[in-house]
Amino acid sequence: MKKITIAIDGFSSCGKSTMAKDLAREVGYIYVDTGAMYRCVTLYALHNGLFDKDNNIDIAELEKRMPQIVLSFSLNNTTGMPEACLNGENVELDIRSMEVSKRVSHIAALPFVRRALVEQQRRMGKEKGIVMDGRDIGTTVFPDAELKIYVTANARVRAQRRYDELKAKGIEADFESILHNVEERDYIDSHREVSPLTKAADAIELDNSRMTLSEQKQWLLDRFHEAT
Ligand code: C5P
Repeated sequence: MKKITIAIDGFSSCGKSTMAKDLAREVGYIYVDTGAMYRCVTLYALHNGLFDKDNNIDIAELEKRMPQIVLSFSLNNTTGMPEACLNGENVELDIRSMEVSKRVSHIAALPFVRRALVEQQRRMGKEKGIVMDGRDIGTTVFPDAELKIYVTANARVRAQRRYDELKAKGIEADFESILHNVEERDYIDSHREVSPLTKAADAIELDNSRMTLSEQKQWLLDRFHEAT
């Protein structure tokens, strides 16, 4: 069967990555979480003092250091799923922290950051057989993707999902600040100048607010079979 490229875009915490991972596992495709890549750059900036106390980024210094920021994924032996590595160190848990979530949309709005990561994402998808999730996959990274999905869900539902996910990982969480973060990122992500989050004209929209995980999984699998 011919391999295709699958682009899954949508708002923060709408379950894109769970759907994308399930599909990739089911059909034997590579899964790439592009949000993790923007989170890694943010973590690098945090660890290297590139934010001042008012959270302003030292943009010139970050741009200078971009070539030194090496992003990769390593496969988790138990889940078989890729985990984010920053300069060789597994940072999958650290990049999910609120400290990173609060700052990532500002880093992701910087054109030189997007240029570097989009280039790497295109290289990863060169051979097709890939499920990539993010905000600009169907519009910018792979405008020719054979299957494009645009996922939405009510903000409170998304915040609850993020809260449950963090709790399950043993990370301290507060519902109201997660909701605030989700809404703030929605705003920044859809209003930035470069590659704002928007539905590609040929994407299929899914509002999964009231769907169970297994319903979402089946829905996506059905779209995959239609496209292949
Ligand atoms: O998907 P996740 O919520 O982990 O993404 C974190 C942030 O990374 C988003 O809020 C967005 O600012 C940025 N992002 C992006 N483009 C992508 C993926 C993520 O701008 N393709």
